[in-house]
Amino acid sequence: MDKFSGRRSEALSPLTRHHHHALVIALNLRRAGSNETYSFNRVQQDLKEFWEEGGQDHFQQEEEILLPLFSRFASLEQDDIIRMLLQHVQIRAAVGLLLNNPEANVDIMHHLGELLADHVHLEENRVFPMIEQTIPEEELHQLTFHQGITETDRSFSHAREDRARQAQRDNSRLDSDTIEGSSTEA
Ligand SMILES: [Fe+2]
Ligand SMILES: [Fe+2]
Repeated sequence: MDKFSGRRSEALSPLTRHHHHALVIALNLRRAGSNETYSFNRVQQDLKEFWEEGGQDHFQQEEEILLPLFSRFASLEQDDIIRMLLQHVQIRAAVGLLLNNPEANVDIMHHLGELLADHVHLEENRVFPMIEQTIPEEELHQLTFHQGITETDRSFSHAREDRARQAQRDNSRLDSDTIEGSSTEA
């Protein structure tokens, strides 16, 4: 049982659970190049798995399901929503570069790691609470997300998560990566 979901509506909890994985990947990305465990190739493989097995689906569902519903009850033209969507583009661009461009390097990984963690914090701390307050509960409860998001819990490599968690325990600096008082550990 994850620790974010206690204060998250059931409707949004699949996305919140998936944010755990995003934070683990963000941690890996920021550690890229620091030692053999976080070599460019291994972190790139982690990123590829994350992105193809739920990551891009997650972004798509926020854009195609969540925000269109939100737009029925409030304006999309507000700073947090604009920033969220801008970050989607920036993250897609960096992921595309890292997975497809032979000139990609650890600096881009570090940049993406910061961006991804920042994005999760923006959604968890600002956007999702606003959505929960704005969309009427009966509408929120009808939200369903595709299988891609919920499957990720099972498909994500536990070995990689364990490795990232160990690194997290080893580095108290990364305590600031948690979502407002919650640990990133499930
Ligand atoms: Fe998200
Ligand atoms: Fe997002």
